[in-house]
Amino acid sequence: MSNSKINTDRLDLKNLPEHIAIIMDGNRRWAKSRFMPKELGHKKGSDTLDIISEFGDEIGLKHMTVYAFSTENWKRTQHEVGAIMNLLRYYLDFYIKRKGKQNIKMNAIGDITLLDKDIQEKIKELTDITKDKTGMQLHIALNYGGRDEIMRGIRKMNADLKAGLISEDDINEENFNNYLDTKGYPDPDLVIRTGGEERISNFLLWQSAYSEFMFTDKLWPDVKKEDLIDCIEKYQKRDRRFGGK
Ligand code: FPP
Repeated sequence: MSNSKINTDRLDLKNLPEHIAIIMDGNRRWAKSRFMPKELGHKKGSDTLDIISEFGDEIGLKHMTVYAFSTENWKRTQHEVGAIMNLLRYYLDFYIKRKGKQNIKMNAIGDITLLDKDIQEKIKELTDITKDKTGMQLHIALNYGGRDEIMRGIRKMNADLKAGLISEDDINEENFNNYLDTKGYPDPDLVIRTGGEERISNFLLWQSAYSEFMFTDKLWPDVKKEDLIDCIEKYQKRDRRFGGK
């Protein structure tokens, strides 16, 4: 969307985090501070997502997971939930039409069976259309909750155990990864939360065990490409020990 060339000299592009996860917080406060309806904050937040994901692909990130709708977000007013779902419809259609123009591979994580059927179909279509793309993988968390994901994983593993497809010896951390929505891709190296709050809010609970965390006061709609560069630069200065040394 934005064509402005951004200077990435500050970054070691050969040592990028492979997977960045983002809690995109602050859409409503952004709108409120401008006396606008909350829905416009979510709209601006969606535009920011488009810009930041495209930029992530441009600099060579392999995976980006974004928290778009949590299992708890259903508690918001029907009007707001409806507006977020309509935005989702709009963006899914937009990305479906833009197929081929971008190299981003897209999929959804979370229990999408609870979303409206037409949204599920659009997600499937977009996943199919982009399945052979070789650029960054954008994983959109929809009706996602870390605890819910772990419980769904346990139920699936238990079903396989009962069916004799696995044995009790197969119940270990490594195998459990294959029962999670994030099966087949690496844990996030870096989790960024915008909007000033410093909590995990049920996002990627299992996968963020050794992630670096970064919090910024910026509200998600205000986030710019330079902010992603700042976060990656800070990340590259951190010493990751994974519990060792
Ligand atoms: C958090 O800000 C944001 C959300 C709950 C929704 C995130 C949704 C989008 C970025 C757009 C929809 C996504 C797609 C893929 C089209 P908040 O609403 O909690 O804001 P607040 O912290 O100011 O209350």
